[in-house]
Amino acid sequence: MILNTELESKGNLFPSKIISYRKDVDTFYFTTENYVVLQVTVRRDSVLRFRYSTKTIFDNDFSYAITKYASEGYNHLELEENDTHYIITTSKLICKIAKKDLRKSIYEVKNGELICEDETGFHWEESYEFGGDIVKMSKVSQDSEAYYGLGDKPVHINLKGKRFENWVTDSYAYGRDTDPIYKSIPFYVGLHHSKAYGIFFDNTFRSFFDFCAEQRNVTSYWAMGGEMNYYFIYGPDMTDVVASYTDLTGKPHQLPPLWSLGYHQCKWSYYPESNVKAITNKFRKLKIPCDAIYLDIDYMDGFRCFTWNKEYFPDPKRMVRELEDKGFKTIAIIDPGIKIDMDYNIFREALEKDYFCKRADGPYMKGKVWPGECFFPDFTDPKVREWWSGLYKELIEEIGVKGVWNDMNEPAVMDVPGKTFPDDVRHNYEGNRCSHRKAHNIYGMQMARATYQGLKKFSYPKRPFVITRAAYSGTQRYTSTWTGDNVATWDHLNIANIQAQRLSMSGFSFVGSDIGGFAEQPNGELYARWIQLGMFHPFFRTHSSGDHGDQEPWSFGANITDVVRKFIEIRYQLLPYLYTAFWRYAEEGIPILKSLVLFDQEDPHTHYRNDEFIFGEKILACPIAEPNAKGRRMFIPKGEWYNFWDDELNIGGEEVWVDADLDSMPIFVKAGAIIPKYPIQQYVGEKQIDQLVLDVYYKNGKETSQVYEDAHDGYDYKKGRFSLRDLKLIGKKKSLTIQQFKSGKYTTPYDTFKINLKGLPFKIAKIDIDHEVLDLRKLKINGDNSFVVTKEFNRLHITAK
Ligand code: NOJ
Repeated sequence: MILNTELESKGNLFPSKIISYRKDVDTFYFTTENYVVLQVTVRRDSVLRFRYSTKTIFDNDFSYAITKYASEGYNHLELEENDTHYIITTSKLICKIAKKDLRKSIYEVKNGELICEDETGFHWEESYEFGGDIVKMSKVSQDSEAYYGLGDKPVHINLKGKRFENWVTDSYAYGRDTDPIYKSIPFYVGLHHSKAYGIFFDNTFRSFFDFCAEQRNVTSYWAMGGEMNYYFIYGPDMTDVVASYTDLTGKPHQLPPLWSLGYHQCKWSYYPESNVKAITNKFRKLKIPCDAIYLDIDYMDGFRCFTWNKEYFPDPKRMVRELEDKGFKTIAIIDPGIKIDMDYNIFREALEKDYFCKRADGPYMKGKVWPGECFFPDFTDPKVREWWSGLYKELIEEIGVKGVWNDMNEPAVMDVPGKTFPDDVRHNYEGNRCSHRKAHNIYGMQMARATYQGLKKFSYPKRPFVITRAAYSGTQRYTSTWTGDNVATWDHLNIANIQAQRLSMSGFSFVGSDIGGFAEQPNGELYARWIQLGMFHPFFRTHSSGDHGDQEPWSFGANITDVVRKFIEIRYQLLPYLYTAFWRYAEEGIPILKSLVLFDQEDPHTHYRNDEFIFGEKILACPIAEPNAKGRRMFIPKGEWYNFWDDELNIGGEEVWVDADLDSMPIFVKAGAIIPKYPIQQYVGEKQIDQLVLDVYYKNGKETSQVYEDAHDGYDYKKGRFSLRDLKLIGKKKSLTIQQFKSGKYTTPYDTFKINLKGLPFKIAKIDIDHEVLDLRKLKINGDNSFVVTKEFNRLHITAK
């Protein structure tokens, strides 16, 4: 491994003094005496892009990560110069560039505070072996600066003191601190003096990040090729930094179908058909809600993608239909390796069309995966993606499979050094031909994208559902993801918690882990505790390698089954709440899971909290992650929080003990929240929802909640057929008012509301709805302060005696 800022290293080269500059609309070019060019583009008032060339000419400006839908435009832009610096000012940022060596420092306009400054700044080393440069950047780490992000790294939430590598890698049974693993998301957030900013280093080569590991006060990042090309994103709010990064690299192109937010059951593998049926029937028999059942590689004929083993699955179309009749959506796995077999039409076709990856001197890229020796499509070629997407026609349109799971797309190759393609493999890279050194980190992303395009086409008018294992920044536009081959241990439950939070703050919210662990076998207690955590993950799936026994909700005895059922039921009740959070994520890039630091960055206590997180906007959860626990200590962030189980009010800002026997876990709801709930269903759509439950948590003050609804599938919502309820709660000592503002053209199937008032400090004397006083006797207010409102309302006003 190379060293980072090793100034003493002979190889490092540095920019010299600026000799000229030029401006082109929103972009400035500063050229140094030794032909380094710094390009600064003002994308937004709070987003600057920095790009360096050491040879005056830049590479073709192409990125798989940046979306064409990213926001652009600024309110103010000005360039000044003094004896020592050029100074670019937007309405939010001041960027000073030193004339003598190109070093930059960035300040906020508001009160002139320093946000981020180059240490050595840009420097590079020439790569004799591959040509081009090893490009490097170093920054001063500010006083008590903390660092977050970087995708799926299985380490403490705060990255400080560690060094990381980005090179997507198949990592069976990875552990705490294993690096790198499946994803490459070169984006981090720095937080100091309560102000947050982000750095997105959009370079797909093998890259490294060092957060004060090598030098106490220096953070640096570098890549083994390509350009020093990065975005600086200012907050100061951390949520805004993440939202801005997500805006840049893309939000999901559409909402997921609601069923995909239900519970999924998976194993390697459920086969033959009778086994699939036995499993799904058991869910219904035991009344454990479930929406999706998975077919892992054994459904195929000799692991040939897009084929079926007809002995195990004689009539897939019938089976899929029968499963669907019971509310199960079938999800099938598809890998990138195509078996070398002249009798296999997909292999022949790709060969004839020249769609497979080749080595530098012309031979095919041959590697072993499940089917034996394979060739691999070059998904970085748009023609190949188009072809690949077309292959889904039969699986999706004819057979009726509802989702596709892309695995092994790092790409994983068995029994070879590096477990992937060698560096010399060639790729099209949208016409910017390159070697695997550059394409490796985006290979899986482009496969998932091609799959997404196929599902989008053939699922139409329904929404596509795709899962990927490998990812680069921007993959969240197309798919959901899981954290790969974890292990059935308590430590892995903790790791899954951190990874899901970390991916969320890295722009990828549709995430989950293999519940219970993929490798080895959990006991019932671990499985139940993991289901409790998984209930809060947008992608909620049990999966296991299957070679060690069963891992279904009923595999660990009746007590565990009851606990698992209870938590899956809560998930189904919370679906409208989660769907609303997903809508906010898809609209605004607000992460669905929020680490406490994202929730309250002002409070330094949150900066190191790993376990507690906010689910959506209003629910605080903390998994129990050790055996034999009767509860745990946890930090409740500032504010007032109701215990979900008994509605007891807690004042946050400190660590407390929370009871949580195996059938419970610490869950709190923010005071003032209004939480929408559905009835328990065995699968999404089982019941017509004719009443929405609103759990209203009293607060002396104001709080706004939202409920987003649409048809739960299809695209009509994009034409305005959605329903958005803004629910404003105003609590006073002797009254509680809920104002409702509705927008959108969708009429929800319900217009009655069951109101559950929680924590109300007074006895109800009067309720009026839109100024009509209700007859309290008729209303039948239950002892627990719940009642039904039988019509849409704009204002609900409750007063004390
Ligand atoms: C590796 C994946 O990570 C795992 O989830 C899957 O079950 C196996 N491959 C077999 O397809």
